[in-house]
Parts: sequence; C-alpha cells; structure tokens
Amino acid sequence: MQVWWLLLPLSCLSLSTGLQKANKYEGYKIYEVTLKARSSPLQFAFSELSKNDSYYEVFSASGGQPARVMVHPQEQVNFVKLMDEHNANYEIVNRNVGLTLSRQFDTDRMLRNWFPYNGRLGTERYYSHGEINQFIEDLAKEYPRRVFVKTVGKSYEKRLMKTVTITNGDGRRNKNVILVDGGFHAREWISPAAVVYLISQLVDNLEENADLLKDYDWVILPVVNPDGYEYTQLSADTRMWRKTRKPSSDSCIGTDPNRNFDFHWNEEGASENPCDNTYAGSKAFSEPEALVVGDLIHSYADRGKMYLTLHSYGPYILYPWGWSEDLPETVDDLHEVAKAGYDAILEATGTEYVIGSSTLVLYVAAGASDDYAFNAGFSISFTMELPPGGTGFDPPASDIDHMVKETWVGIAAMARKVVTKYPLS
Ligand code: ARG
Ligand code: ZN
Repeated sequence: MQVWWLLLPLSCLSLSTGLQKANKYEGYKIYEVTLKARSSPLQFAFSELSKNDSYYEVFSASGGQPARVMVHPQEQVNFVKLMDEHNANYEIVNRNVGLTLSRQFDTDRMLRNWFPYNGRLGTERYYSHGEINQFIEDLAKEYPRRVFVKTVGKSYEKRLMKTVTITNGDGRRNKNVILVDGGFHAREWISPAAVVYLISQLVDNLEENADLLKDYDWVILPVVNPDGYEYTQLSADTRMWRKTRKPSSDSCIGTDPNRNFDFHWNEEGASENPCDNTYAGSKAFSEPEALVVGDLIHSYADRGKMYLTLHSYGPYILYPWGWSEDLPETVDDLHEVAKAGYDAILEATGTEYVIGSSTLVLYVAAGASDDYAFNAGFSISFTMELPPGGTGFDPPASDIDHMVKETWVGIAAMARKVVTKYPLS
C-alpha cells in the first residue's frame, strides 16, 4: 500500500520524461556523406533529392565538405541503396532527429525559466525576438548618448523590426558605417545569438574596442526574419523552418528572404516553386523583411564600408559574387579582410573557416543580401556561416557561449582591418 504511493509519482515522472511526444521528425536520420569530387554524379543525385523535399533535406553539399542529408524514415532504405550504388562513404550522424529536437525543446523551456530576462542577454540560452527588442531598448535607455534604437519596419506578421546603432558617444556625425544583420533564416538561431553578443561587446567594452568606434558607427538588425524565428521556437515540429511566413501560394508558406533581393533576382540557385526552401518570391522584394534590409543598405550605402550578414551553418566566410562564378575586381581586398577573420579565429580556437566567393566555395545563389550590399557600394560584404552544432542548425544552448565568442573574435579582427583599410575620408 505505502509502496504504491511512492511508485505513482515515480511512474508519472518517467512517463513525462522518458516518453517524448512524437513529432514530425520522429525517426528521421541524418547521414553524412563524403563526396569525392565537386561534380561527381552523387552531387547531381543530391540536387535531385533536394527537390523531393517531403522526404529529403540536403543540408550541405558543396565542394570539399562532407554533405549532410536528413532522410524521412520511409526513404532510408532507398537512400542507403543509392549511396551504395554510388559507392559513397556515409555515416549516420543522428539516428532520430525528432528525439533530439524534442529534448532540446524541453531543455530550452527549462532554461527560459531558469534565466528569465533581466535587462541583459547572456549566453546561457536562446532569446525570443521580443526579448532581443527589449534588450536593445533597455540598452538605449542605459546609454542614451551611445546607443540608439530605431524601428525600421514591420514583418508580415507585424513584428517590429528595430535597428540598434552603437557609437562611442562623441556626437560626431557622418562616420563610416558597419552594417550587421542576423536571423535571415529562421532556424539558424546561433546567428541572432552571435549578433546579441556582438552588441554587448561593443557597448560594454568601449575601451577595448575604441578603435572600432572612433570613426565608425555600427548599425545592427539582430533578427531579419522575426516571424520565421518565432515560428521555429513554437515546437520541435517547426524547429527546422527556414523561410518567412507570408503565404506564397494556396498550399505553401514562405519565401527565402535571401533570394528575394533585387539584384539578379530569380536567377541561378533560386527556386520558382513557392513550396521550395529557396523560393525567390513572387517578385524582387516581395517580402517586407527583405525590403527593410534593402532600404537599410541604401540608406547607409554612401558611408557603408562593411556589410556583414550572419548565417549558419559552415564554417564559411563568403564574399561576392554569389550570383555568378565571376569574381569582383576588388577580390584581393575582400580576401584580405576575410583572411584577417580566418587567422584570428584559427589562432583563438583552432576552428578553420573556409574563405572564398560564395559561388566558388559554397554554391551559386542569386538574389541574396550580400551581393546586393556590395553592388550598392559597401566595399566589403560578407556572409559569415557559423559552424554547425547539434544536428547542424541547432547547436544546443550549451554551445552558445563558445560559438558567439569565437564569432566575435573573427568579426572584431575583420572590423579592425576595415577601419584601417578604409579610413574616414
Ligand atoms: N547559406 C546562404 C544562403 O543560402 C549562403 C548565401 C551566400 N551568398 C550568396 N550570394 N549566394 O542563403
Ligand atoms: Zn542562412
């Protein structure tokens, strides 16, 4: 009798923690496949697979790097057969994506309770779009002469998109500008996290970063795609969402904001199918979120020296062009600045980034923000793809601290190169 009373709560506990609720990704596996050459038939097979996106998602399949493919339970037998036919080496890197995601979801909920918002954003957990907006507003109140927040637009679901401008407070106008954004792609949570850390560094460590703020202001938009970002925080089912949230056809939702810019829009590497993850949109700047970034780029183009957009996952530091295989005339300058980031990170942590033009080291993808900013007049324009974590796009919260610190080391080194290379004229 007494024993029963003891067992009951115990069994409830094990039910709630042991049996995870089944979700959309239950039984999905992630395979890592080593490609032998850039244009092997397998590469072609992957691009065919990625079209069948209710069964496959090809996370990365580009020159040199091993490819990761997430496969629906019903397709795993076929997939393995296909790999065998191609004589490819593969390894299972995640046996049940659903389980990983639902565990992470529970951990994230717990961390939210343990670390409620207190005016500062640490590296303990991921933050909501609302918390990030609150954080920059609170910073501006705390540093009224150095930090300025401006609402620059609204997302499709009417979330406020705010930039934070960080200065050294000397009141001088018309300095050069470094423009940074994050959170283009909803599931790439480490990107807004790295942007938040960068904001804290620039604000809190003025002395250490005096050179980065002397003749330069930093303008930062932490979450470009807040609707998507919030959607991925709802459940394990929605965790892997990439696009915006505006309906793109009767049956599909979302546009890839990074294919929606009005520069070689809808050319190579962008899809015309509204259901695809790289859908370019019904027209250039069809997405309010992309238009906001486009407007920001134009409003700072004359003072803008570096545009930096943070994505995951790589690790890559990518420069133009991403719409074609051509290299810009100033490729040496781009490479020199990227190399400064590469060297600094390698020395600090041993992580080895791959640097080069988007098209040549990753894939061709037209209509992206980096090409747009470069074409608009930013001397330096980079997409920085942070390293993978978890199954790829989902580094656990315990990875945030070292990842954002490493990223900052790279960004600070690149910014240092930029401020000396492009002094205020
Ligand atoms: N992962 C990024 C994307 O797919 C890479 C963009 C690189 N830039 C480019 N212009 N292709 O959007
Ligand atoms: Zn991305």
